[in-house]
Amino acid sequence: MDVLVTGGGGFLGSFICDVHIERGDKVVALDLSDGAKVAHLDDHPNFRFLSTTVTDEATMREEIRTSDLVYHLAAVADPRRYVEDPLHTLQLDLIAGLHVVDWVVEAKRPLVFTSTSEVYGRNPQVPWTEDADRVLGSTDINRWSYATAKAALEHYILAHHQQSGLEFNIFRPFNFFGPRLDSLGAGRVVTIFLEKFLANQPVQIHGDGTQTRTFCFIRDAAEGIVLGSTSEKARNTVLNIGTDIEHTIESLAETMRRVGGFSSPIEYITYESAFGTSYEDIPRRIPDLSRIRSLTGWEATTSLEDGLAQTIEYFHDQQSTSG
Ligand SMILES: NC(=O)c1ccc[n+]([C@@H]2O[C@H](COP(=O)([O-])OP(=O)(O)OC[C@H]3O[C@@H](n4cnc5c(N)ncnc54)[C@H](O)[C@@H]3O)[C@@H](O)[C@H]2O)c1
Repeated sequence: MDVLVTGGGGFLGSFICDVHIERGDKVVALDLSDGAKVAHLDDHPNFRFLSTTVTDEATMREEIRTSDLVYHLAAVADPRRYVEDPLHTLQLDLIAGLHVVDWVVEAKRPLVFTSTSEVYGRNPQVPWTEDADRVLGSTDINRWSYATAKAALEHYILAHHQQSGLEFNIFRPFNFFGPRLDSLGAGRVVTIFLEKFLANQPVQIHGDGTQTRTFCFIRDAAEGIVLGSTSEKARNTVLNIGTDIEHTIESLAETMRRVGGFSSPIEYITYESAFGTSYEDIPRRIPDLSRIRSLTGWEATTSLEDGLAQTIEYFHDQQSTSG
């Protein structure tokens, strides 16, 4: 099978490339980045890295035409960036995404789209099934630009499925973590905490630390996405993917400190001083995983401790290599 992965040089994309290469598929990773996260695949005969943008229409159309399956992952996915730059978030996650869907429809290829658990917004009734309500805040709050863009693209894909016969898989990831996640200090909670732990500086928790998240190890997640995208039973479905084991952010910090043998103190700061007023946090975000379990049998198997140990080792090595 020939597979195209937009955003294939990113965190999740790089693991999806790994899983497909291990299955014996041919993979093209298309990404704006330098390809460092897929450098280990460079010499593989079935792998090609294309350094370009998803708005490069000629290249995209050609690569879609020669693929059997198209993953569209390229996006602004880092909470800090979608709060600071909602314009680019909408231009990439919404407008560029609509064009990608159009090209895939025209080429009559199946599409896999990574949406987000953020589409549920702050619906207080957890766990969320895939048909749960979306409860979002005001357009004054930049945070919702990301969830809105992703949800609009979901609508567009579902409409094309009904009206143009598009075959699709939509996944709603719940907090993946692991090696190759962002860079230290950037983006998401695990790398933000880890940068401080590795530098032996205080780790800052936003709010009181009782907000919870579930954490799914990236390799498990990539296997689940590939399994769902290649199985007949799961075709044309929207699937939550993650784990349903809740951890408070405070306990995440404490687990990281223990697993990594770190000694940084843990401090608490307000959301406003961290993000300004243009951010709203969500106290609990838990997926209902019945659908993905029943359609694919998939289950994440890596514990938080094991996953954190692998993540810490990866970033430790990165730091040593970069001097
Ligand atoms: N990791 C998670 O927990 C999580 C949670 C929810 C949703 N998602 C979704 O999964 C997908 C992958 O996320 P990720 O965690 O790997 O993020 P990531 O930032 O590591 O990957 C996104 C990739 O897209 C690339 N990109 C950005 N602009 C591009 C452009 N114009 N053309 C081509 N490539 C471009 C980036 O270089 C990056 O490599 C995203 O769509 C994201 O919204 C991930």
